[in-house]
Amino acid sequence: MQNQQVPVLPRTGGVVVSPRGHRYLLGQLLGEGAFGLVFDAVGPFDQAYAVKVFLPAHRPYAAVRDQWLREAGRLLLLRHPNIVYVHDSFEAAGLFYLLLERCDHTLEQMIGTPFTDRLVVDISRQLLFALQYLADSGIVHNDLHAGNVMVVQTDRPTVKLSDFGIAQELYGQRAVRPTLVHHRIMAPEVVAGGYSTTQSDLYQLGLLVYAMHTGLYPIDFGAGYDDVVAQIRAGVPRSRAEALGTPIGNIASVLLRRHEQYRYTSPAQVWEDLRRLDVWGPTDPPPRRTPVHPPPATVPPPPARARGGSPTS
Ligand SMILES: Nc1ncnc2c1ncn2[C@@H]1O[C@H](COP(=O)(O)OP(=O)(O)O)[C@@H](O)[C@H]1O
Ligand SMILES: [Mg+2]
Repeated sequence: MQNQQVPVLPRTGGVVVSPRGHRYLLGQLLGEGAFGLVFDAVGPFDQAYAVKVFLPAHRPYAAVRDQWLREAGRLLLLRHPNIVYVHDSFEAAGLFYLLLERCDHTLEQMIGTPFTDRLVVDISRQLLFALQYLADSGIVHNDLHAGNVMVVQTDRPTVKLSDFGIAQELYGQRAVRPTLVHHRIMAPEVVAGGYSTTQSDLYQLGLLVYAMHTGLYPIDFGAGYDDVVAQIRAGVPRSRAEALGTPIGNIASVLLRRHEQYRYTSPAQVWEDLRRLDVWGPTDPPPRRTPVHPPPATVPPPPARARGGSPTS
């Protein structure tokens, strides 16, 4: 029986072969989470992948399979420029795999020194675009932290929301009951009521905006679980954002309000405020609201003939 086998964990230098016969050569370990290992990999067309392997971690085969199926299903459904792209998902030798587009690093690796306002606004815009798509699709992410935001670095960073491991479908309901949320990013309604909504994702975005803006998180994590929960209940993140006295701090403070109904009511509404901030230099205008079409083609004037008058007449 499959659930009685002990699968051999993949390792750097190993090869994973998909049921269709595609070979993926595993490179360095990119990340390690509670549920998976993520490897750099090269695929059959020499393109880069991130291969996420679901760890059995002493759980029954069926439980790991369910978790993989849920995450794969969400990623296959959610196609958006700011959501990580899944190329394939399969089971091989008793383990479950997701073949993801390979990103360069996480947002977590960028947190530590304050970003320029322009960078905060640009990254927030992309995350809001993804969050609006999730809200419109009836999905709560529940796990929006910097380690789950991937960055593709070209001339400007493109961010990709990832890790839908504990995301939940709303199925027409207003709220869901998450079974697991990291205590550091719990929204107040998760602490007080045990439920989350798309508004809870906005709260988690507020924590991220604060961290990008200041280089620090608005909660002291050193004092342990009870103290972190007490800070969330007391609204410390919101007060800290407000105390910054900056335009971005003010927007973060609305995202971090304790009562979800007093936060922004949608990702699009947050963008309405962010896009008004004067963070764009003369060479770098804000993204335009409406597409600008090229001016209609004009027929070039015939060459001026010398008629004794002015050549431009
Ligand atoms: N597509 C990717 N490209 C590059 N690195 C990735 C990618 N996906 C995940 N990682 C790395 O692996 C880590 C864990 O991945 P994640 O999907 O968040 O798994 P977990 O569910 O275990 O938290 C991430 O924080 C990141 O460092
Ligand atoms: Mg993760």
